[in-house]
Amino acid sequence: MKVGVIGAGTMGAGIAQVAAQNGHQVFLVDLNQEVVEKAKMGHVKVFERLVEKGTMTKEQTATILNAIHYSTSTNDFRDCGLVIEAIVENLEVKHKVFAELESIVDENCILASNTSSLSIASIGSALKKADRVIGIHFFNPAPLMPLVEIIPAVQTSDQTIDKCKELISSWKKTGVVCKDTPGFIVNRVARPFYGEALRIYEEGIADFATIDWAMTHFGGFKMGPFTLMDFIGNDVNYAVTESVFSAFYFDPRFKPSFTQKRHREAGFFGRKSGRGYYSYAEGVEQPKPKEDHELGKMIFDRILAMLINEAVDAVFMQVTSPEGVDLAMMKGVNYPKGLLQWADEIGLEKVLLQLEDLFAEFGEDRYRPNPLLRKMVRENRNFF
Ligand code: NAI
Repeated sequence: MKVGVIGAGTMGAGIAQVAAQNGHQVFLVDLNQEVVEKAKMGHVKVFERLVEKGTMTKEQTATILNAIHYSTSTNDFRDCGLVIEAIVENLEVKHKVFAELESIVDENCILASNTSSLSIASIGSALKKADRVIGIHFFNPAPLMPLVEIIPAVQTSDQTIDKCKELISSWKKTGVVCKDTPGFIVNRVARPFYGEALRIYEEGIADFATIDWAMTHFGGFKMGPFTLMDFIGNDVNYAVTESVFSAFYFDPRFKPSFTQKRHREAGFFGRKSGRGYYSYAEGVEQPKPKEDHELGKMIFDRILAMLINEAVDAVFMQVTSPEGVDLAMMKGVNYPKGLLQWADEIGLEKVLLQLEDLFAEFGEDRYRPNPLLRKMVRENRNFF
């Protein structure tokens, strides 16, 4: 099957590489010729490095590179069985592009979007034959991150879902099917990692370095929340938070933080701008955490309880299964353990108590324990 990818930026280039490495002829299209050339150069470099490292032979990489066809014309999608859209995150533009794609491809071609924040149903509304629309959400960098969220819209046919599941697993990726709800799995369940860390900072409990230390030391997370937000970019991370918050009709669980907003307003985006919560200027010594065991454990327990509550909610609201949510967080954002597995190990009752304490202390809806967590404690059940 020929695969089309529209948008040759960060995600599109990565997705095209994945498809080509898995034996497809790939048509990578962008409206900007410069972007197309940059994507091509990027691919050449990546494969040169793989040859140097001895991961692939020169012949293998040549075959893959020859399978990627770069252009600025969507007419190249004519014979594709699947086209994945990875253009700018704007519904109006996506509508135009999906309508245009439908006029080019045949009626069996699946039209997928890599959107992070728009609903697949809204994107599919631009199509005459909307049972072929689906979300295929990769994580950055697509060639390295194993998770792909597969998101059927209300319009999507079972046949489209089945074909995509099969394809994603043939690409040696972990496909997790989830409901077309804001943030899908990962961008919803991960919110407290950032939001609760920011809240703890705003309450004056600890500084950035100490909160980061607490999460890496006690939780085994590869990066603490502030290091990670600086890595992702405070502009990008704040935009996701705001979009999830408004998409959830302003549920206080997802309330954005003034601290992050001010950092974004000041241009303190993180690594890419040279300064975020930390300074990345040469020679600057990074602040040291206050390695207070009791304080660190309290911070870690609070953030983890909030993460678990969100993971439970995704199951309660049938966004995905307990296995789905745990796989998604481990394979999409490298969590050291599945959140529900973690909850089982800690004891659901203990997690519930922690949330009840926070709820009683603050009286804010943000800390309300999920009904499924209460029910499972009542029935003395575990997730696994
Ligand atoms: P990007 O800005 O790197 O690339 C977007 C590309 O689309 C640009 O090269 C632009 O020239 C092209 N484009 C815009 N309108 C077009 C049109 N009408 N026809 C053809 N090409 C067009 O953006 P990025 O980061 O690759 O994101 C693309 C999509 O993937 C967005 O929907 C985003 O939400 C989603 N996404 C992004 C992730 C990330 O970490 N950057 C992760 C997962 C999803």
